[in-house]
Amino acid sequence: MMSKRKVPEEETKLDPPVAKQLKILDKTTDERTRAAERSTIVDSGEHNFFGVLGLQDINTKKFLGKSTRPRNHVNPLSKTFLEPLTDLPDWKKVYQDAENPLVVDIGCAAGRFSLMYARKHPEWNHLGLEIREPLVERALIWLQELTPKLYNVYYKSCNVTVHLQPLVESYPSKVQMICVQFPDPCFKRKHHRRRVIQKPILDVFAKLLKPGGVLFLQSDVEETCAQMRDRTENCGYFSRREGDVYSARDPGYIKAIDEGKNDEQHFWTKDGKRALKSTATVVASEAKEAEETETKSEGSKKQGGKEKEVDYGDYGDWLQGPNPLGEDCKTEREVQNESLGLPIYRCIYVRNDVPPPNPSPAYYQVKPAGSSNTSSSSSSSAAAASS
Ligand SMILES: C[S@@+](CC[C@H](N)C(=O)[O-])C[C@H]1O[C@@H](n2cnc3c(N)ncnc32)[C@H](O)[C@@H]1O
Repeated sequence: MMSKRKVPEEETKLDPPVAKQLKILDKTTDERTRAAERSTIVDSGEHNFFGVLGLQDINTKKFLGKSTRPRNHVNPLSKTFLEPLTDLPDWKKVYQDAENPLVVDIGCAAGRFSLMYARKHPEWNHLGLEIREPLVERALIWLQELTPKLYNVYYKSCNVTVHLQPLVESYPSKVQMICVQFPDPCFKRKHHRRRVIQKPILDVFAKLLKPGGVLFLQSDVEETCAQMRDRTENCGYFSRREGDVYSARDPGYIKAIDEGKNDEQHFWTKDGKRALKSTATVVASEAKEAEETETKSEGSKKQGGKEKEVDYGDYGDWLQGPNPLGEDCKTEREVQNESLGLPIYRCIYVRNDVPPPNPSPAYYQVKPAGSSNTSSSSSSSAAAASS
């Protein structure tokens, strides 16, 4: 019988790349398990939060004559999604009273939130915007099948990054509220520019919302929510509501703000703090790279030509208490998160009286019906949206 070789201690230690790979594997498995759990939560068992709506599990193939299984993620900056809108809704046909104020849910996914919120606020019209068309098609079928009918909800498939302004500007009345709820976090640094909340869209929000209009943001990813919050506060058009209570802010961040530096002069350090570029351990080449694209100044650093993921910490400064829209109106993601016991980060703003940008940004243009190639305006849209 062969004697068992004694394994040297160093061999029992995994070399860093292998350890990292295992960690990634663990993470992926966790995420898969969580995704599987999530998908069963929304319409089932004790978590049947949306049961009151009585929605059917629609066989979309039967209704629409095609399979509508949505892809998990789409790239809003890809050419297909940058084509200008040619089919603005006839608002007087889609809503019973198109003079009512409008609530816009950006990235509404299956759209159940709008249905719930519309029952609660029949005095407003509700518009769900979603880039994945099959979800919108199903939501519109749900809308037709509902008893009692809701005449104050509509869904539109579009890429809010380029279509929000022409679409909502064509609405005949005022915009009451814009909600950005659990937007895709686009974790990879190279995908940060796909995130919905960028400076140009905040300019559009500023144009669409009149003083007093509300902007509601929530996410289950703290870094994503912190970035949405910081960008919103830095753009100058939105103020926190009086009387709202927020948790304490990360002291490192307060220091940076006290020094009067704006968001673009900071980056996220490896241990999840914010730091000033000048005082941080950013090597010269990284600083130069950071200047080239804003997204490269956030979230991660390049080392030896390889992207390095950064772990984020706890930044604090979140709206305290339950969902300010009410405990009876939640999004699908919110229901899932709550039932999994995961945290949710929120902030809510009112449009202040700082005049909106003028002239209107050129990159949000609607293509007049029947006009020919607009690829140049499309690509400038993309550039502007991602800059
Ligand atoms: C994580 S889901 C959250 C959905 C929903 N708000 C919720 O809380 O359950 C984000 C949604 O935003 C949509 N989305 C991402 N980018 C978009 C864009 N540029 N325009 C419209 N929808 C977008 C995605 O397709 C996805 O359905």
